[in-house]
Amino acid sequence: MKINLTSKAPKTINQKFSFYTEQLWIKDKKNYGNNIDSLFSGKKNETFISVENDSINFLIGLGEKPENFELQSVASKFAYDFRKKIQSENTKINAENFDAAQILELVKGLFLGTYEYPFKEEHPFFMKGFNLVLNKVSEKKLKEIELKTSAICKGQFACMEWLNKPQNYKRVPQISEFLKEISKKHQFRLTVFDRKKCEELGLGAFLAVNQGSSQEAAFTILEYHSGVKNAKTVGLVGKCVLFDTGGISIKPSDNLHYMKSDMGGATAVIGTLIAAAEMKLPINITAILPITDNAVSNNAYIPSDVITAYNGKTIEILNTDAEGRMTLADGLSYLAKNYRTDALIDLATLTGSSVRMFGYTCGAYFSNNEVLKKSLEVSADKTNQRLWNLPLWEVWKDDFKSDVADFKNISSKPFGDCIVAGKFLEQFIEDHPNWAHLDIAGVAFGNVQYMKEKGATGYGVQLLINFLENFQ
Ligand code: BES
Ligand code: ZN
Ligand code: ZN
Repeated sequence: MKINLTSKAPKTINQKFSFYTEQLWIKDKKNYGNNIDSLFSGKKNETFISVENDSINFLIGLGEKPENFELQSVASKFAYDFRKKIQSENTKINAENFDAAQILELVKGLFLGTYEYPFKEEHPFFMKGFNLVLNKVSEKKLKEIELKTSAICKGQFACMEWLNKPQNYKRVPQISEFLKEISKKHQFRLTVFDRKKCEELGLGAFLAVNQGSSQEAAFTILEYHSGVKNAKTVGLVGKCVLFDTGGISIKPSDNLHYMKSDMGGATAVIGTLIAAAEMKLPINITAILPITDNAVSNNAYIPSDVITAYNGKTIEILNTDAEGRMTLADGLSYLAKNYRTDALIDLATLTGSSVRMFGYTCGAYFSNNEVLKKSLEVSADKTNQRLWNLPLWEVWKDDFKSDVADFKNISSKPFGDCIVAGKFLEQFIEDHPNWAHLDIAGVAFGNVQYMKEKGATGYGVQLLINFLENFQ
């Protein structure tokens, strides 16, 4: 993905993107004549095309006092909506009144708006001849903006692409091959445990979900080492259920196809790894993706089964559709027992309960550390990939005590499942003092500009990258 930004204006520029807040527009509108008032006033997502001799000027409204993330979303919508009209030529961005951080969001937005499924770099921004000219920004700053934009795009597009793929295009060999490719490209250390190896290691909770699958298990570990001395290490675990039928506790068929998105935690982690490596972030990441599907078969695990997890705890299965917490339980305890990490974060499309609670507005998160909570919330607010904190009170633990094992995999009560699931996962972090669980079931997959039905939102990549940039 080639992104060209320059401060050196070529002789002729016949295409301009002029971004205006309502206030900036008031100052500038005299240059456009009096009759424009009813056509453009700088309102959010308003556009107007002004033709001046050979030059086309796209006026784009940003609203009254836009947050930085709004600059990104307006630019993204513009790039997508006008993809058939924008020419591949030298293009000036008129953004003299914006600072470097704001310009970064505008440029990121423009390029993020090029995403369509399947992604093919067909947007005019990727064609020969397209250059973005930004006056009054130093070449050094422009290089930084170029690098960050392409890093975020590469990470977020990979995330979205894999989540959007249909089930039969993302079976274990295909995603494993992709993880191998990115590991080679970015020098990630890659380890994959197949079913036999998982049995040897005792990853019983993960294997319980995989045992009904016709596909080989792939408990996958990816390590990014920045090479920076004394760099902190962040552990990431992403739920990677390639398709969730519910298993023997089978799901109803309405909207079942959306369960191809049950790997939204993993795709956020994959996108973050790619972007972090592209940006050469001075931190280390150890990521675990317990890859499997949750299938219906005569070999599948069955309600009443008692499973021994990697950390020795036993789990009574009461609903095979509560499979995510099984795979994450082993992902978390394997990471906690075998790697030293300064923070441990898991992301998962874990519960319908979190969707019923927050809809598509934010992820539900849980944490045992106040400092970690604060920094996650700051990053979530900044990137508009929002999170809301829910409790991990001890009372919730009573709800999944079993008569025949240490725990049941679901609650005995018909409410608060996202909290129960969070409390359940806490039993597998091996007392890690700095852990957070992000239930992103409502936000990973939803309404997006590039699809009529639901599609991947890219949720998590910018949130985690912002968090990692500040976790040093
Ligand atoms: N993958 C689902 C959760 C989900 C729901 C993700 C909606 C995205 C959108 C998860 O594995 C699941 O099936 N959870 C059950 C748990 C229940 C059986 C306790 C649920 O939420 O219904
Ligand atoms: Zn399920
Ligand atoms: Zn699931």
